[in-house]
Amino acid sequence: MDEISRLSDSLVSSAVLSGVESQGTPSVSSNNDLPEPVPATESRCVLEDFVQCSKSHLWKLMMSFYDRKGVESWSQGIVPHFITCNSFIGSSYAKVLHGYIRDALRLNKLNTNEPLYIIELGAGSGKFSYFMLKALYEMRDVCDFPFNKIVYVMTDFTENNFKFWKSHPSLKMYFDMGVLDAGIFDAVNDDKINLFFSGKVISKGSCVNPVCVVANYLFDTLYHDIFQVDGGQLKEGTSLTHSLTYLLTHSLTRDRFG
Ligand SMILES: C[S@@+](CC[C@H](N)C(=O)[O-])C[C@H]1O[C@@H](n2cnc3c(N)ncnc32)[C@H](O)[C@@H]1O
Repeated sequence: MDEISRLSDSLVSSAVLSGVESQGTPSVSSNNDLPEPVPATESRCVLEDFVQCSKSHLWKLMMSFYDRKGVESWSQGIVPHFITCNSFIGSSYAKVLHGYIRDALRLNKLNTNEPLYIIELGAGSGKFSYFMLKALYEMRDVCDFPFNKIVYVMTDFTENNFKFWKSHPSLKMYFDMGVLDAGIFDAVNDDKINLFFSGKVISKGSCVNPVCVVANYLFDTLYHDIFQVDGGQLKEGTSLTHSLTYLLTHSLTRDRFG
């Protein structure tokens, strides 16, 4: 059994909607040398009873995972990222942004003397940010907005990722040019970003130009609820978080899971 399958099997969240149970598979735990799973039985350890999905303990477990692991989530291949972090997708986002800039300039919605902030939420390892920024840099001569007025802002809720980017050699050129900045920002709870390099604060009403937001492979990570329209009736799902026998059995037989 491969590592991802093991993780999925060790802790699951079941969503109940209209009395039908279905299982989601969050990545909440990691251990490189897990023993082979024991045969499953019916028993399981309920960590939290059914609650409204956005209130589930699951989200805290997931944030704890990202916080503890930092960039190892990507360097160890735990979080899939090839499809979301490559030069093709980076340049595709840059082209969409160019299209927006062209339209907004035509409608006099942008002031070219003021910064245009592009805020990336949940930037993770920063690999996608690098590819998008590189594409913007390469397109600078064909963009009607001055490149040195663009400020790409990498954010994530965890300081561990932030520490990794701010000293990364591949990003240094952009930090030095002033077209890249970084800050810690929780996309669920925060309402302002302190920019580490410029010292500026981005908050409601602080920017002259509209703010562009990039959220690449992020929304599945943010608290959300479950709804279903069934026969014209709106129904809400609830979520149960529990271990499977695999985790329960090993927590009883080995000390490692505490
Ligand atoms: C699936 S990863 C995607 C990372 C990156 N955007 C990519 O495309 O590879 C989700 C990222 O969202 C971050 N994250 C999770 N909850 C967050 C929150 N409430 N606010 C900001 N970032 C969050 C995690 O730390 C992680 O870096």
